[in-house]
Amino acid sequence: MKKPLDALFIRTYGCQMNEYDSERMAELLQEAYGMRLVARPEDADVILINTCSVREKAQEKVFSELGRYKHLKRRKPHLLLGVGGCVAQQEGERILKRAPYVDLVFGPQTYHRLPEMIAEVRRRRAPVVQAEARELEKFDALPKPANAAVSAYVTIMEGCDKFCTFCIVPYTRGPESHRPAAAILEECRARLAAGAKEIVLLGQNVNGWRGEGPDGEEWDFATLLYAVAELPGLARLRFVTSHPLEVTEGLARAFAEIPQLMPYLHLPVQSGSNRILAAMHRGHTREEYLEILAMLREQRPDIAIATDFIVGFPGETDEDFADTLALVDEARFASAYCFKYSPRPGTPASELADDVPEEEKDRRLQLLLAKVGEHTQRALQAKVGRVEEVLIEGPGKRPGDLEGRTPDYKIVHLRGGARLIGTIQRVRITEAYAQSLRGELIVREAA
Ligand code: SAH
Ligand code: SF4
Ligand code: F3S
Repeated sequence: MKKPLDALFIRTYGCQMNEYDSERMAELLQEAYGMRLVARPEDADVILINTCSVREKAQEKVFSELGRYKHLKRRKPHLLLGVGGCVAQQEGERILKRAPYVDLVFGPQTYHRLPEMIAEVRRRRAPVVQAEARELEKFDALPKPANAAVSAYVTIMEGCDKFCTFCIVPYTRGPESHRPAAAILEECRARLAAGAKEIVLLGQNVNGWRGEGPDGEEWDFATLLYAVAELPGLARLRFVTSHPLEVTEGLARAFAEIPQLMPYLHLPVQSGSNRILAAMHRGHTREEYLEILAMLREQRPDIAIATDFIVGFPGETDEDFADTLALVDEARFASAYCFKYSPRPGTPASELADDVPEEEKDRRLQLLLAKVGEHTQRALQAKVGRVEEVLIEGPGKRPGDLEGRTPDYKIVHLRGGARLIGTIQRVRITEAYAQSLRGELIVREAA
């Protein structure tokens, strides 16, 4: 008799699409084997690492973490160790060379077969590698979402065809494939029925989604938004991550016309220099990017724009970097994720000399973070004294605290009882921190 596999631990790195996938893996293994999630790897019979390879640092973390689990395996020989996600897709068998004690390697498009793969590992007592791309098959094979998070992710597309020269995603997630509208709407309905109040549509290039509507007609992303917004029970709608080239007038109008669509858009720009934008193969200039923001702000003046930047791309000069700093002021970003360039295997940029020295990348990163921080602080300070509609998403880190988000996606900490989770409350903002806000409920909770 083999020991039953009861306890599951999943570590998730990378983007929201990986978080979505991890949730689905947990649901799947719960259904197949009755496994439950545990909070500590030491308590698990199965440990899965859902990996990200978008930057070198993220990838290295995986191997140091695997090293720690190796010892657990010595004490607990039945422990099953799996590596999924984008590193698994990229590296495949090579993971076993570096970490021969790994039992299972599976890509982002094969995890729906986890129950069979696990059975196979136990039967063969040998590692199993399944990292071929199978596109959308997985969505049909997954159980109906059971998770009742207040804010629920729904992946609407996989992969990316944009091939920015620095980016590994088109190689790990494969070519773009879009789920049909009917499947997306069904999953949204299931999430709302399970208690979700907010839906976040996910894709690497989410606003490039196109698909078949329920009656076979061609839908674009804006059409999909109108349809999702009509689902009963939906209070808020968001989507991430968008590409500037796919922002249409129709999408800008949707921000004005759909009350559930929240005034926040994550629109990575990567650089403020036209020379670097071209070398990155982003397909637009800084001027075009600013025009897109103007179009969005015309429709929705209160929209908060967040972005991503890479500093130290091959050949980035002081002038190029100055253009990036200037763009932060011109675009008035509410927030930005800033990264130092790292070459990724197989990408066109990795064949260019990585010629900005590490110290210079560090210096530029600090300058950029300081500049972005000024804008973030200004936006947060401007909220103090105002009343915001906050969707309470869960408990806060401190006991007695709750955490929620404003329509423009700023985190608000406040005191309140757990029964407010899942409701929208009017909150007076009392204080701005570095990255978030504190506030208090306007109407005292009924006793
Ligand atoms: N699909 C999104 C984001 C993809 S990855 C988009 O089109 O923008 C998330 C972020 O990681 C990117 O926006 C970029 O800023 C950063 N990134 C991607 N590859 C990188 C690399 N090789 N080095 C440093 N940062 C990188
Ligand atoms: Fe990567 Fe560019 Fe695709 Fe975003 S759009 S995932 S940065 S290739
Ligand atoms: Fe990372 Fe893969 Fe997402 S590389 S950012 S986990 S698509």
